[in-house]
Amino acid sequence: MNQHERIQADDRSAASADMPVAAATVTDRVWDALLAARSSGTARASTVWSAGERAAWELYAPLLGQGDRPFVFAQIGQSLDGRVATVDGDAADVSGTEGLKHLHRCRALADCVIVGANTAIQDNPRLTVRLVKGDNPARVVIDPRGRLGDDAALMTGERCLVVQACERERPPGVETLKVASSADGLDPVSIVTGLIERGFRRVMIEGGGITIGHFMDADLVDRLHVGISPLIIGAGPPGLTTNPVSLLAQAKRPRAHVYGLGGDIVIDCDLKA
Ligand SMILES: NC(=O)c1ccc[n+]([C@@H]2O[C@H](COP(=O)([O-])OP(=O)(O)OC[C@H]3O[C@@H](n4cnc5c(N)ncnc54)[C@H](OP(=O)(O)O)[C@@H]3O)[C@@H](O)[C@H]2O)c1
Repeated sequence: MNQHERIQADDRSAASADMPVAAATVTDRVWDALLAARSSGTARASTVWSAGERAAWELYAPLLGQGDRPFVFAQIGQSLDGRVATVDGDAADVSGTEGLKHLHRCRALADCVIVGANTAIQDNPRLTVRLVKGDNPARVVIDPRGRLGDDAALMTGERCLVVQACERERPPGVETLKVASSADGLDPVSIVTGLIERGFRRVMIEGGGITIGHFMDADLVDRLHVGISPLIIGAGPPGLTTNPVSLLAQAKRPRAHVYGLGGDIVIDCDLKA
């Protein structure tokens, strides 16, 4: 083996040691155990589960957080080329069937789900749990300038809260959280603090990339799930938009585990390790 081959082999073994890929099998008994742990606050895996079921537990149980401590996680589903939608705004099926179920599982484990104004306007999402068993989270939209219409789907049904910097009135029953705007936008710390004060402990940020980036740049995200689906879109909004670095040595390199979910993979990043 020459030096180049040796380095490649070392790289491969280092990568596989750091990032083993585990196929996650989310059976009813694992999902029921996760929902029970969500309610009781005590999370425990069963010793009789298969390797795939244990992998599923390891993927989702960290999203429950620890004790009463507030916990913030983000999830984004993107293509091989890092896009979350087409240029024309088609975003419905970037993730595969299991990837979409993954998104709904994440919602079911959260107390509230945040989206940015672009996502709320372009996709008009309901942000409910429909593909798996579980309760709907409260919906939160960050709409600093009041661009979102009162007929937005997320404003009907479950609890809804709009984070805004403007004075805009919202429909009856929709709560507002006023946060001052600066050159950097709305302060993510004030947003999370306001949500915690309103009783939300597990906060999920669903996107898009600009919104997740604001929270990541403020170092507020505990866990990040990046789902990757094997399709190539060519252009369109990127998965994550964070402060850039000029040298790769300055890049964030979170501790990560890779899980297979049907035809998609999910990279589970612990941003606080
Ligand atoms: N595949 C997926 O998992 C997934 C998930 C969600 C969304 N998406 C896609 O993502 C695209 C939209 O993403 P995007 O990155 O362009 O936009 P976005 O994150 O949905 O929304 C960004 C906007 O939200 C407001 N905002 C959010 N956080 C803020 C903060 N801290 N301070 C100030 N303003 C804040 C701003 O609104 P103003 O400009 O009004 O000030 C900002 O321009 C859509 O195509 C959608 O389909 C994909």
